[in-house]
Amino acid sequence: MLKSHNCGELRAEHVGQHVTLAGWVHRRRDHGGLIFIDLRDRAGITQVVFNPEISPDTHTNATNLRNEYVIQVSGEVSKRPAKTENSKLPTGEIEVLAKSITIYNASKTPPFYINEEVEVDESLLLKYRYLHLRRQSMRDNMLLRHRVIKYIRDFLDAHGFVEIETPILIKSTPEGARDYVVPSRVHEGKFYALPQSPQQLKQLLMISGFEKYYQIARCFRDEDLRADRQPEFTQLDLEMSFVTEEDILALLEELFTSLVEVVTPDIRLIKPFPWLSYADVVSRYGTDKPDIRYGLELKDISAIVAESEFIVFKTAIQNNGVVKGICLPGCANFTHKQIEELTEIAKGIGAKGLISMAWLPGNAEKDLTMQIKSVATKYLNNENIKEIIDIFEAKSGDLIIIAAGSPSLANKVLDELRREMAKRLNLCDPKLMAFLFITDFPLFEWSDERKLWDSMHHPFTAPFEEDIQLLDSNPGKVRARHYDIVCNGYELSSGSIRIHNRALQEKIFSILGYEKQEIEDKFGGFLEALEYGAPPHGGIAPGIDRLIMLLTNGKSIRDVIAFPKNQAAIDVMTDAPSSISDQQLNELHLRLIRTEKRD
Ligand code: AMO
Repeated sequence: MLKSHNCGELRAEHVGQHVTLAGWVHRRRDHGGLIFIDLRDRAGITQVVFNPEISPDTHTNATNLRNEYVIQVSGEVSKRPAKTENSKLPTGEIEVLAKSITIYNASKTPPFYINEEVEVDESLLLKYRYLHLRRQSMRDNMLLRHRVIKYIRDFLDAHGFVEIETPILIKSTPEGARDYVVPSRVHEGKFYALPQSPQQLKQLLMISGFEKYYQIARCFRDEDLRADRQPEFTQLDLEMSFVTEEDILALLEELFTSLVEVVTPDIRLIKPFPWLSYADVVSRYGTDKPDIRYGLELKDISAIVAESEFIVFKTAIQNNGVVKGICLPGCANFTHKQIEELTEIAKGIGAKGLISMAWLPGNAEKDLTMQIKSVATKYLNNENIKEIIDIFEAKSGDLIIIAAGSPSLANKVLDELRREMAKRLNLCDPKLMAFLFITDFPLFEWSDERKLWDSMHHPFTAPFEEDIQLLDSNPGKVRARHYDIVCNGYELSSGSIRIHNRALQEKIFSILGYEKQEIEDKFGGFLEALEYGAPPHGGIAPGIDRLIMLLTNGKSIRDVIAFPKNQAAIDVMTDAPSSISDQQLNELHLRLIRTEKRD
């Protein structure tokens, strides 16, 4: 090795030893006679002192050093003079008195500070990702990611799982996104698809008899990107035979609980993880991925205002809609401007507006209608207002905001406002991870666009046994053996107990609108496998990137992936995707047709 120790390792007990360190110049201070270098490697920082009285040549060489030069230094470990210790650095009690130096490489001035976490435009950080990864925060994220994946592997190994790799060049498997495809050179006009997930392959491994499989699996999806979505991402893909929902979720609860306790012990959990049904969670939070670190639950006041002449409420209810709201503690004195901001958010989602009811603090009027400031009060009597206050458990000084409209619109608006207000009111404890299990999803959701049923999860999900008889008569009422794990407002994992019977699997495909021939072409091999003794099985796939983002309390999965794509699915560092040569196109039997403009 070109070093005897790393830069995070030396302590008072090493004083007097001759050591050799190697790394990058993190910071350089020239104090007239003495030059101080903070030398950095992956393990930390050590102060190196260049003293002309110890080695004049070495000192002269050190005058040329600049940030990010790569050097090797040898010298003696010395205790720092009294009052110059740095208690913030693990190596802060000592320094190395340099006797010799080798400059391995100079460095151009980096395009942004590496030794300070100052904000920089993300496109620059992505272009110079290898430099961004030198920053401590990014290094910490990568090291945490390594520890999490190692913990998962050890945990699953101890629980009898086998890690099996599945191919990347496969036939399309539906997960709801578009496929990335790879043209075949050998088979003209044929394409492989990259896996949106190894769903069918892991089910085939159950049919092969492996019983407990997992893989740290790379998945590829061509879909609209968001802060929690990348075109290629990593799942902990897992499948088990002879299990129920409870077995899989209990295993995941044990995995996440012990992982957090061992790897990030400063994070707290809500234990045991709550179980909520899909219907319950949507009614209480307006979404199937709520952040339950805070309350601000949605309340339905449709029944209370059903008789009201207030046009907003009346229209909503006449159109089979709902009147729902949330109570914002201590916000009664929000200014007109603040309410307008919330209204704009609601309008952005499609609402016509928002109704606010402010319970003015210090207003001792007996009549409640006189204490509440709202356009709705003149249409409500004292009794109605009392009921509204009770249902929200509101107190004097609170503000109730109300959305009226179709259930899906009211829920969407209030979910957004609930998240927004939690941020503004500082209700998201960064050291709390609030996991919850969601079950009893519908098997299908209606697609207005396709005028057909879509799978809520994917087509391989088993329906509830007792609902199978509804498949023909009322598909919308069929419940799925599908479960999600949600954490701090993000969908972390989805999974299900699978169909293991050919006839039922074919029936589901046909309800989803696949023609007989199409079913055979797309899934023929898989359907045949179901006829060779497929065991009952189920599984789940937590997103590893989202998990690490949550463990780091980050805002984007791009910060926990070494080389991510930007929001437009471009790798700005290597400039992918890029054109290929005419020769490559010919070999692949492809001809490009330039389109005028893509939508
Ligand atoms: P699903 O499609 O719900 O299920 O994906 C499971 C988990 O993968 C993560 N995830 C993503 N992470 C980053 N970027 C993306 N574009 C992205 N898409 C999904 C999420 C999500 O919860 N085969 C099934 C699982 C199963 O049934 O076992 C599947 O892939 O954390």
